[in-house]
Amino acid sequence: MQTMKKYELTKEYLTGIDMIDKEHAKLFDLANECYELVMDDASTDHYDRIVELIDELRDYAATHFAHEEEYMERVQYERRFSERYQHLRFIQKLSEVDLDSVDENQQEYLLGILDFLARWLYGHIKGMDCRIPKEEDAAAK
Ligand SMILES: [Fe+2]
Repeated sequence: MQTMKKYELTKEYLTGIDMIDKEHAKLFDLANECYELVMDDASTDHYDRIVELIDELRDYAATHFAHEEEYMERVQYERRFSERYQHLRFIQKLSEVDLDSVDENQQEYLLGILDFLARWLYGHIKGMDCRIPKEEDAAAK
């Protein structure tokens, strides 16, 4: 299978907080993996693997959010509650994904999910996460 890096965590999406950036990179990896499978030769059925990957993404996102929220709590980041709200919405949205009921246009449906995912990742990371202060800066305030 050809590797297509569809979603890239470029420099402008780095928060500068090591743990958070590493976990964001993993979320992007998972999204890329889903994308590759969705775009791969349709004669091979990747459906089960894709469903599995979306579950994995949701679980990993939940773990990551917990870490990020813990960090924000520690540095007493003032926007941590709106962060938390967006995290909850994300998990909620991914939990609503009902792949079992999708028979027709499977690929289209999955691409829709990926599109949501990518827009959320880019939007949330740049709009929210990049404003989270580094520990040393938060302490200096
Ligand atoms: Fe976040």
